[in-house]
Amino acid sequence: MQSIAERLMHNPVFTRVYTGIWRPLFTRGFSLGGTETLDYDRALRAYLGRPGERQVLDVACGPGNYAVDASRGLTGDGRYIGLDFSASMLAEAQRLLSTGSRSGTGSRSGPWVFVRGDAHALPFGDDTFDTVTCLAALYLIPDPLAALDEMVRVTRPGGELIVFTSVRASVAALPGADLVTGLSGLKIFGRRELLDRLDALGLTQIEQTITGVGQYVHARKPSAGEPS
Ligand SMILES: C[S@@+](CC[C@H](N)C(=O)[O-])C[C@H]1O[C@@H](n2cnc3c(N)ncnc32)[C@H](O)[C@@H]1O
Repeated sequence: MQSIAERLMHNPVFTRVYTGIWRPLFTRGFSLGGTETLDYDRALRAYLGRPGERQVLDVACGPGNYAVDASRGLTGDGRYIGLDFSASMLAEAQRLLSTGSRSGTGSRSGPWVFVRGDAHALPFGDDTFDTVTCLAALYLIPDPLAALDEMVRVTRPGGELIVFTSVRASVAALPGADLVTGLSGLKIFGRRELLDRLDALGLTQIEQTITGVGQYVHARKPSAGEPS
């Protein structure tokens, strides 16, 4: 049976309010009303927009929240590929990008491509992408560690993986927290759960930044010949 959260992601009314209302509130909620998540998010957008000829894969991209930022600095054959399994989220991404309202610059075209697919079985070859992101989505994916393995598989040696998801904080231990997460279908990760998995997969430079009940994880896949 689909969880409440999964059902919402396929609901066209929800996808229309996601970008302007839901995501900003949710981002703030991760810092329990503080600004740490928002601050990190701004820095991340700037980082994703740095110049370079990169192949970027955004897993569970939703309505393309990061498409413009991650495309801004792309040069040459650089591409942003957004993957999601919700047709209504992808339709909303196309709508926002084609009207130019997403970019705020009126620009209607960019080096972005959207693909419908499942994070558990990414339709790409091994070692393909320079940057793989999965933002505000891993906690919704039924088998998140299998999806993480897939993201590592498609990251090229020397490439990076960036994840933003939930993390167990003291508030998550409060009575009722398990009921809320159980009903909504959102998973809360243990503090070391993702780090240990990435370490076991041989990733290096694994950094975790906790912003309340959210965590950003940044890791690199070692280049050929580099010790893992
Ligand atoms: C909360 S939205 C996040 C969207 C965007 N990354 C952001 O930061 O705003 C979560 C997205 O994960 C997608 N999703 C959930 N499970 C998925 C799966 N197994 N494969 C691909 N996408 C999935 C949903 O359709 C939804 O668009």
